[in-house]
Amino acid sequence: MLKFVHQAIRDIRTTGSFFPSSPVLARAMTNSLRAHRGAKRILEVGPGTGPFTAQILRALRGHDALDIVELNPIFCEHLEVRLLRKFRAHHPAIPVRLHSQAIEHAPLEGEYDFVICGLPFNNFPLALTQSIFHRLFELMRDGAEMTYFEYAGVRRMKAPFVGSSGRDRIRRFEAFKSSTAKSHKVTRELVVANLPPAHAVRIIKRKGGFEQCFESTKTF
Ligand SMILES: C[S@@+](CC[C@H](N)C(=O)[O-])C[C@H]1O[C@@H](n2cnc3c(N)ncnc32)[C@H](O)[C@@H]1O
Repeated sequence: MLKFVHQAIRDIRTTGSFFPSSPVLARAMTNSLRAHRGAKRILEVGPGTGPFTAQILRALRGHDALDIVELNPIFCEHLEVRLLRKFRAHHPAIPVRLHSQAIEHAPLEGEYDFVICGLPFNNFPLALTQSIFHRLFELMRDGAEMTYFEYAGVRRMKAPFVGSSGRDRIRRFEAFKSSTAKSHKVTRELVVANLPPAHAVRIIKRKGGFEQCFESTKTF
């Protein structure tokens, strides 16, 4: 917890929050992969101190594989020491790889069945959010599921304080999300037991849907 707060104070833009996610949000984020029967390839992006990683590791079985991508080297070291070393010692046959770099540059190849994404999209310029979505969707097989989270009401609360360009960015992000929802199956689950309360947003990738969703956001 202290490590997370310290990194948030150092760089709130990429850390995105002052507190790690709660175990309740972590379970909501990983519901589908925990219920999945059969082999699965999982990608986790932005694990921070690892609340979602801990749930994912618990759900890994014999033929599964996990890639983790984290930009902040302090969080990477923490993950290695606190979670990954012990897991690898007990399950040497299950590949778990940690990539200490930005998702934009990580050397990954599809096809993943699940993407668990902890990135703070509300802090990113829209073009970066769109290019990361594009990257993640390219890495997913058709029918795969991506789950990300966002704090409840965060954009409405921010709007009065961010000026007109900030409000324009919020409006464009909302439009991008609506176009994503038209092209894919999107569901949201409110988790009150988190600081602050958050929605886990699940997107099931439809074939060709991502191109359509980009087409419909090009115009503004
Ligand atoms: C909001 S924190 C979430 C941490 C954790 N998943 C949780 O819920 O407590 C966002 C995390 O994303 C990481 N991050 C930010 N930008 C990134 C990028 N471009 N590629 C990979 N990780 C990134 C940050 O370092 C941070 O660990």
